[in-house]
Amino acid sequence: MKILVTGGLGFIGSHTVVELQAEGFEVVIIDDCSNASENVLDGISAISGVRPLFEKLDLRIKHDVLGFFERHPDLGGVIHFAASKAVGESVEKPLLYYENNLNTLVYLLQCLGSKEQAPFIFSSSCTVYGQADKMPITEDAPVKPAESPYGNTKQIGEEILRDSCRVIPQLKVVALRYFNPIGAHPSADIGELPIGVPQNLVPFITQTAAGLREKLSVFGNDYPTPDGTCIRDYIHVVDLAKAHVVALQRILNGKQKENYEVFNIGTGKGSSVLEVIKSFERVSGRSLNYVIADRRPGDIISAYADTTRANEELGWKAISTLDDAMKSAWDWERKIRNI
Ligand code: UD1
Repeated sequence: MKILVTGGLGFIGSHTVVELQAEGFEVVIIDDCSNASENVLDGISAISGVRPLFEKLDLRIKHDVLGFFERHPDLGGVIHFAASKAVGESVEKPLLYYENNLNTLVYLLQCLGSKEQAPFIFSSSCTVYGQADKMPITEDAPVKPAESPYGNTKQIGEEILRDSCRVIPQLKVVALRYFNPIGAHPSADIGELPIGVPQNLVPFITQTAAGLREKLSVFGNDYPTPDGTCIRDYIHVVDLAKAHVVALQRILNGKQKENYEVFNIGTGKGSSVLEVIKSFERVSGRSLNYVIADRRPGDIISAYADTTRANEELGWKAISTLDDAMKSAWDWERKIRNI
């Protein structure tokens, strides 16, 4: 069966392509290469032995999306990653974010919704919970007003899907709310490739150790947490990628309880920034140059998942440890920097 993966050259998309191929799916990737390179196709092929079909296409151009669906009448489902994801940039350029993340979703659903079968997996985020009142966070925790246009696109995206499922019976959707994806494929053939200065913790750590950055700033150590630094649920990207395949199979096998379902995808374990640094130092054998800095505006104190629903309903569980993920992130950084 042929599956469309939008944003399939990106960090989570590329890992998901590999897992789909391992399960026997044929993959066609759409990517506009705005934040990814065509070279990622070489990495995917090195792992799976199969070069996925690829079309460089801008999903904001509805005519082109329609043309794509005409060229691929045999599509069995869509996994939709393509989106902009920089929180700060979204504050500066809200309309770009609404266009990139929402217009594209609408066009895809209009095309897919006209087919007899319409399985759809959506990349959502734990950002929809904001600072939740209770830990771990269940899917029933309230969705809080978004702190940024980026976060808002994830909330509105979920609403668009929920409303569409009510009136398009063949549309079957799973929205996956990711916690913090990190790491790289164990082969080090694909991984995260941030453009410019990384905003996220783990690529900043590996780039610092690789000598690209002088030091890591730990954003605040006076939070009400055991060591004073913020807590997140860091999930290995390969575990996360597998969750997409399992969610797709759930739809294809008619196992859904409702046409629109939401799952948290995390490990269920919270780790502090200092614990992540210690893990990096343990697996790399290097000490990291870091300083304690001011809090980052907008950061939440703590967020980690209750994964019971995903464990029980999807039959999926994260298996990699934080050390596994940090080692793979470091192996990837060393490979791309020739260290
Ligand atoms: C961030 C976004 C979130 C988005 C997610 C996508 C913000 C406020 N949140 O989540 O909306 O869905 O990325 O991946 O931008 N840290 C440092 N020093 C650094 C970088 C990070 O101490 O140089 C700390 C942060 O304060 C935080 C933790 O590391 O406590 C994780 O940060 P990050 O990787 O940016 O993820 P989130 O903030 O969880």
